[in-house]
Amino acid sequence: LEILLPKLHDAQATVRDGAARFNVVDCGRRWGKNVLLHDRGIDSLMADRLPVAWFAPTYKMLAEDWRELKGKMAEVAVGKLEQEHRLEVVGGGVLDMWSLDQPDAARGRRYRRVIINEAAQVPHLKDAWEMVIRPTLADYVGDAWLAGTPRGHNHFFELFQRGQDVAANPDWRSWRYPTSSNPYILSEEIEAARLDLPERVFRQEYLADFIEGEGAIFRNIQACLKAPKSIPKQHRGHPIVLGGDWGKQDDFTTLSLICVTCGYEVAHDRFNKIDYAFQRKRVESWVERWHVGYGLVERNSMGDPILEELQRSGLPLVGFDTTAISKPPLIESLALAFEREEIQWIDDPVWTAELEAYERKVSAVTGRSSYSAPEGGHDDTVMARALARKAALDGGGLIVFEV
Ligand SMILES: Nc1ncnc2c1ncn2[C@@H]1O[C@H](COP(=O)(O)OP(=O)(O)O)[C@@H](O)[C@H]1O
Ligand SMILES: [Mg+2]
Repeated sequence: LEILLPKLHDAQATVRDGAARFNVVDCGRRWGKNVLLHDRGIDSLMADRLPVAWFAPTYKMLAEDWRELKGKMAEVAVGKLEQEHRLEVVGGGVLDMWSLDQPDAARGRRYRRVIINEAAQVPHLKDAWEMVIRPTLADYVGDAWLAGTPRGHNHFFELFQRGQDVAANPDWRSWRYPTSSNPYILSEEIEAARLDLPERVFRQEYLADFIEGEGAIFRNIQACLKAPKSIPKQHRGHPIVLGGDWGKQDDFTTLSLICVTCGYEVAHDRFNKIDYAFQRKRVESWVERWHVGYGLVERNSMGDPILEELQRSGLPLVGFDTTAISKPPLIESLALAFEREEIQWIDDPVWTAELEAYERKVSAVTGRSSYSAPEGGHDDTVMARALARKAALDGGGLIVFEV
């Protein structure tokens, strides 16, 4: 019986051959973390015939890893417990797969080798490692493999640093590789990602840099505040798009209008009357005055009824649901437009101040980024501009209204 595994690529082979007891592999997305970790797990199962554990950050990721490994090991599996995510292997080895949203489940087990996939995304990695996972290695003097794409300066970064200082930590070793060291990923794909992402995001996700997580998100603002004054007539035949954010109890309704052809903001508006009819009229008048061809407006809570009425009266507006998932790419895309000076904006102190104050925060628990105004500040002007920029990318080029 044998399992056919892919031959490791050069970088993967370097890691395998340089292994210590505790191994931390920091690499870009699609570098081949799963392929390397499969190789290491199966190697131990077949050679040592002792239990091996595989950990994934969440139940969802575990389900994917389970499906993949189960398939690879079909030839050598003699028993399989779907519920427990356990595979028994010819000759006596056992593979247990665990999700780390409930790390305690693995307490009290004994393993010859443990593998932690996407380790930078493990909630409470420090506790999971120290209190649950590390102790499972004591009986067999087992070893460990952690691989991940960085998430700022969290505990994965600390473990990575341990492996860099071999003199102080002889049991630890770590490596860092960009996605590009995987020869099976087209370099064109990586170049395309470089063009699509803000520089710091690209550095983290593809170059595997441990970038500082927190801080200002918009840079190069001053260079992008040169939108000239203009009137609708000057934009005859140009597509004009709009982004809008509805005011709630104590913040503002904001609108930003961009001329896609000229690449600058032609108008913006900010007001804090929350009366529905008033808001609707004001939006209508902007759409009419500038012959807006396409607009993207927030759809949450109170946005919904206003938006529906505006759509019923024929305005070319589409709703955008702002969620923890949809917001980061929206904001990152606007940050990228500033870095590249793709759009010029109206120089307005209030709107500039909100851009300057805008922050990125990284959750110490999940490692995910979130974007918002600082405590007590507003972010509605940033949202309007981010939506206007997205409207320009999505539909702006297609819809031209004659002025
Ligand atoms: N040694 C290898 N041989 C062949 N293909 C590989 C090898 N390593 C990685 N790949 C391919 O590269 C892609 C990314 O690998 P994967 O292990 O899923 O990366 P990651 O887990 O880092 O996102 C997959 O299509 C995988 O099949
Ligand atoms: Mg993977």
